Amino acid sequence: MDSILITGTAGFIGFHLAKRYLTEGIEVIGYDNVNDYYGTKIKEDRLAILSGIGGHHFIKGDLQDKEKVFSVFRDHGFDKVCHLAAQAGVRYSLTNPHAYIDSNLIGFMNILEACRKFDRDHLVYASSSSVYGGNTNYPFSVEDNVDKPISLYAATKKSNELMAHVYSHLFGIRMTGLRFFTVYGPYGRPDMALFLFTRAITEGKPINVFNHGRMERDFTYIDDIVDGVMRSIERPFPYEVFNLGNNSPVQLEYFISVIERELGMKAKKNYMDIQPGDVPKTYADIDITKEKLGWSPKTSIEEGIRRFIQWYREYYMI
Ligand SMILES: NC(=O)c1ccc[n+]([C@@H]2O[C@H](COP(=O)([O-])OP(=O)(O)OC[C@H]3O[C@@H](n4cnc5c(N)ncnc54)[C@H](O)[C@@H]3O)[C@@H](O)[C@H]2O)c1
Repeated sequence: MDSILITGTAGFIGFHLAKRYLTEGIEVIGYDNVNDYYGTKIKEDRLAILSGIGGHHFIKGDLQDKEKVFSVFRDHGFDKVCHLAAQAGVRYSLTNPHAYIDSNLIGFMNILEACRKFDRDHLVYASSSSVYGGNTNYPFSVEDNVDKPISLYAATKKSNELMAHVYSHLFGIRMTGLRFFTVYGPYGRPDMALFLFTRAITEGKPINVFNHGRMERDFTYIDDIVDGVMRSIERPFPYEVFNLGNNSPVQLEYFISVIERELGMKAKKNYMDIQPGDVPKTYADIDITKEKLGWSPKTSIEEGIRRFIQWYREYYMI
């Protein structure tokens, strides 16, 4: 492979994936609208790092701009497509539903059509563990029924899997959907728990502990995710959906205690009810991912949080 299109290179996962390919000498065509769902400074900083490595051809554009998306496919000879740009976040989908329809349905449709029109034969795209909704059949298997999402975000991700199936069936484009489970690490998303907690604790502010601490998440470290995405790009299947999760759920109270230990500071906890749309526990069954991609996660939560806090201290000069 000489080159790849990655959408969402200003975003958390897209940045790390692009960085890895660039350091291996593979050209990356990046596409992102650099929107302000969260502060754009971290997005600009990620893009600056990528341009510092070299080989990142960045195009600022919106997924909804069909002609622009088509021109990217027409004008660049990339071999592979990895579609990560999307409106992420469960809670935001309760107040800004249209952002999810625009980016995750119309935007996704434009990527599918571009693959068809411009003869790309494999698409890897981001789905989410949120498609499992209120499933209590642990661990979550890709063979489970996921017809009952409990947030619009989850509904758009499940829809992506359905749309991808149609394009695989009708046009023979190979499709790999990746259900990511709570990804964390350096240059992570400021709207997610690890970032929010770290910031609040260092500023002496209280943290919101939802479901009175009775939450569990299968936190998955970014380097493991990048490894899984790369494997899925290297190994196309006619149609597959894979879980990329740590297969080891962590209780929220323990998660907070590891952050406290790394920071050497105590959190002020504000216990609250579970938020609408949130699921109490996520837990990935990764047997099929292991078998078909040869992937398994390597990073413990303690090691991952240690690396995040180390980065956070350097980035914010604390
Ligand atoms: N981080 C996680 O824990 C997690 C979990 C499950 C699924 N996902 C999915 O993985 C993908 C990457 O997530 P992330 O954590 O890197 O999120 P992110 O928000 O950091 O990155 C997404 C990027 O997409 C861009 N984008 C959004 N809408 C766009 C549009 N209409 N046109 C062009 N660019 C647009 C944003 O500017 C952003 O830079 C997303 O599809 C997300 O839904 C992430």
